[in-house]
Amino acid sequence: RGIAAVIVAAGRGERAGQAEGPKQYRRIGTRAVLAHTLNAFASHPDITAIAVVIHPEDGDLLRAAICDLPAHVRIVHGGATRQDSTRLGLLAVEEDSPRAVLIHDGVRPFIDKTLIDRVAAAIDTSHGALPALPVSDTLKREAEGGTILETVPRAGLHAAQTPQGFPYELILRAHQRAFDQGRNDFTDDAAIAEWAGIKVRIVAGSPENIKLTWARDIEMADQRLAASVN
Ligand code: C5P
Repeated sequence: RGIAAVIVAAGRGERAGQAEGPKQYRRIGTRAVLAHTLNAFASHPDITAIAVVIHPEDGDLLRAAICDLPAHVRIVHGGATRQDSTRLGLLAVEEDSPRAVLIHDGVRPFIDKTLIDRVAAAIDTSHGALPALPVSDTLKREAEGGTILETVPRAGLHAAQTPQGFPYELILRAHQRAFDQGRNDFTDDAAIAEWAGIKVRIVAGSPENIKLTWARDIEMADQRLAASVN
């Protein structure tokens, strides 16, 4: 049984500004953000099925961004929240009976094989895994009125990245239970795993593996690719 990937790309990306369309279809270097992301998973030899979750209105943008889809890539429509889009992506790879699944943000195009391998290697039948970086800034909790209430000790705190990987059936069941109970406030899959009692290992994240959130992130990503040899 192989490893599946779910790439969630159904967001509207409002923080990056709507003028030039959703950020996952903006071009960085020679290709759309989502084309870079998909390529990392589609070219990985251990990944046997991929669901790309898109907004129902983005079919034309997707076809323009990615001309030929490999046979093991399926396109599915997402939902109103990232959590819902992920659940729909998980259901779309069910018929492949994967042993594990990697769930990744479409707007993290700098994912590479090394990081995919590191996460995949840390998943077993009872544990998920996620890449994370130790928090380096000093953290402040704000009081009303914009003053500082307190300094939050950063020891042991990590900033979570994706891909987050899990035993497939465990995370699918956790998502379905959350859905059945009307819970839709989880911001990543490790939070659902935590809620469902699935243990998750932390592996070293990559500083390159940033999430393109703001318009400025997209400009920086484009400059970075222009400066590199490819
Ligand atoms: O909005 P945020 O940056 O947290 O989105 C993280 C990822 O989740 C993005 O790749 C986005 O396209 C995806 N997403 C989704 N469906 C939604 C909202 C976000 O697939 N309804």
